[in-house]
Amino acid sequence: MNPKAYLRRNIKRRVALGHPWIYDNEIQSCDSVDDGQIVDVFTSSDQFLGRGYFNSLSTIRIRLLTRKNIEINGAFFREKILRAFNKKKALLNNGDSLRVVFGEADGLPGMIVDKFADFLVVQFNTLGIYTFRREIVDVLLELFSPKGIYEKSEGSSLEKEGLVQTGEWLAGDGPILIPFNIDGLRFLADMKGQKTGFFLDQRENAMKLAFLSNDRFVIDLFSYTGNFAFHCLNYGARSVVLVDISERALEVSEEIAKMNGFEHKCEFVKANAFDYLRNGDISKADIVIIDPPAMAKNTSSKSSALRGYKELNLRGIKNLRNDRVLATSSCTQIVSEEDWLKCINEAFADSKKLGTLIYRGGQPLDHPEVSSIFETKYLKFRVFSVHNIAEL
Ligand SMILES: C[S@@+](CC[C@H](N)C(=O)[O-])C[C@H]1O[C@@H](n2cnc3c(N)ncnc32)[C@H](O)[C@@H]1O
Repeated sequence: MNPKAYLRRNIKRRVALGHPWIYDNEIQSCDSVDDGQIVDVFTSSDQFLGRGYFNSLSTIRIRLLTRKNIEINGAFFREKILRAFNKKKALLNNGDSLRVVFGEADGLPGMIVDKFADFLVVQFNTLGIYTFRREIVDVLLELFSPKGIYEKSEGSSLEKEGLVQTGEWLAGDGPILIPFNIDGLRFLADMKGQKTGFFLDQRENAMKLAFLSNDRFVIDLFSYTGNFAFHCLNYGARSVVLVDISERALEVSEEIAKMNGFEHKCEFVKANAFDYLRNGDISKADIVIIDPPAMAKNTSSKSSALRGYKELNLRGIKNLRNDRVLATSSCTQIVSEEDWLKCINEAFADSKKLGTLIYRGGQPLDHPEVSSIFETKYLKFRVFSVHNIAEL
């Protein structure tokens, strides 16, 4: 029997409608339970609501794994992971890589699994999911027969869960730079790089933008390992400049450029993109890409994030010549699409220019957004052609 937690009388609509998080102030009473342990959650009228894991260190006290009265074990994880993969595997028609599990959006709070060719990269971002890592690794070995499973859990939220940063092979072995393919391009997922090693969430946006890039000169700001830049070269871009503050990301980009035979068409610039946007080079570009990292983690930093978006886009728009293209993105979850678009519209107005929207993108189907779990929606992407007012 699992320990029991009872919710306050007026159960939050959010929980009733499928959101898996239960905050500390929503719990009326709880049996003695260890952090990371499974608890059964009941309404105040003793109705079973679901089963999840508990952590007293987090204000999200319980994350529900299921609304059914079933045991949380290897078979449970097998069923959930397989269900998530089956919804997404058609994406493998265009490469050998995809996000197998996207946490809450796939019913597995705290857990990320990316497949890069024959390897898997996992993140256990909560203590509760970390507690099941052996069962999860066994299931992944059985379902995917990978050559290796690498754990790459990092970020400040781990500490709040009582976890430590981890980067190691949990099963098998493999290279630190894992080669994989997307859309006929060869890439490397960097186990010493950011997140799971590659931003799979931007690959479709990069492909769409690439359709516009034939014979164009492209500046890829916040390039990481060149997802956007190399997609553009793949579709005929004349040349690209990759700008990132991370030396390592640029070194890996150079490797990727060589693997694809693009090295003569690339320039790699280590710079702060805010500064780079101030210099005159943007005015030579046909396409400018602005894909900064998340700029705020909580509501208190939201307004500075909005200022950052306005400034980046303003500098891009001001300096682009007539009829050139701005591709812009935001992955800050707490900045809504509406607020972000408002910043961009203001940037057009302040520059006395017009933006014609030519592509509206978001998350690919292996990073699903769930209707009542608004935290699963985070990625915004727009492509505009930029015009002087007199010349539309
Ligand atoms: C969201 S990632 C970009 C992902 C990339 N566009 C892709 O599709 O793979 C953000 C990148 O911005 C870089 N970065 C962070 N702050 C920066 C700054 N001030 N100037 C330039 N690059 C920065 C990080 O090193 C990281 O590579």
